Amino acid sequence: MISLDWLKTPIWAAGLVGGTKSFLKNPLLGDPKLNERGLHRTRISLAWRAAERRRAILAQRVDPDHRAAFDRDGFVILENVLPEADFDQLVETLRTRPLPAREMRQGQTVTRMTPVGPSVLRDLPAAERVIDDRRIRGLIQYAASTGGFPAWFIQTVIAEPDRETPDPQTDVHADTFHPTAKLWLFLQDVGEDDGPFMYVPGSHRLTPERLAWEHRTSLTARDDPRLHHAHGSFRVRPHELAEMGLPEPRKVTVKANTLVVADTFGFHARTPSGKPTLRMELHAHLRQNPFSPWAGPGVTSLPGINRRQVDLFLAYKDFTARSFIWKDVGRVTANSPPHI
Ligand SMILES: [Fe+2]
Repeated sequence: MISLDWLKTPIWAAGLVGGTKSFLKNPLLGDPKLNERGLHRTRISLAWRAAERRRAILAQRVDPDHRAAFDRDGFVILENVLPEADFDQLVETLRTRPLPAREMRQGQTVTRMTPVGPSVLRDLPAAERVIDDRRIRGLIQYAASTGGFPAWFIQTVIAEPDRETPDPQTDVHADTFHPTAKLWLFLQDVGEDDGPFMYVPGSHRLTPERLAWEHRTSLTARDDPRLHHAHGSFRVRPHELAEMGLPEPRKVTVKANTLVVADTFGFHARTPSGKPTLRMELHAHLRQNPFSPWAGPGVTSLPGINRRQVDLFLAYKDFTARSFIWKDVGRVTANSPPHI
């Protein structure tokens, strides 16, 4: 039978001017010959230039000290974010009140997510306070290089090291080919042995060495056995970091009530945990079209959409996907054991 896949060429081509990143799903993106001629290198350069222009506009919303820390390291740490009583109440509510949740397993790690739409937020006023904090919003927008509204949810990360399959998120990696941001408000201490977030300081910058590595990597990414790598979330090896003049990853150990914002174009990972651990976080993602010249608010900022982004995403996936990785586990408390 003759393949009709070529009919999808306009869709694949349209993906090149958006955030499409998978070298497996998009044959144009994955084509080694096109990448030899500089397709990936050009996308990454153009995206970086657009991000720099947007960041210059967004910079005025950010505390100068936070901006300096971000520009230097690619991540920012804020301690004692909530007043103590508000923080304690948030943690207590999450420990005792069952909330609608989804779970996903990646090897040894189960991730639980509860979208914080308007109805859930009524029970979590302290979370709403963080979401509405202009200082925090300005910081994640600067890190993501977009004026959009972040997608917020409660996240629980449960490590079960007795299981054999490793967690792919423990490989040091970049999430995608352009600046994009994640935020965590940690709801308990995360020490050296608790599988902390780790980040390679300074790896958020597109240096000539990084660009050359991206180009080399793009030539073989499609056929790489590491699935996330082939899907455009490039994994990096220790000697490659050294060749790019980058330091080793730094473990971001934190006290409870500490917030971390990072550009996950920079290299990062979850540290493998040698013991069973469970941690709760108020978490946010912020990403937009990497080539957009627009630094202002977008569709995600519209009332009715801004706080429902995760709910809308899940509803869409439920509607379209036959086997969606985020399994609905009903109402559970944030610190309960895994249900999948
Ligand atoms: Fe990541």
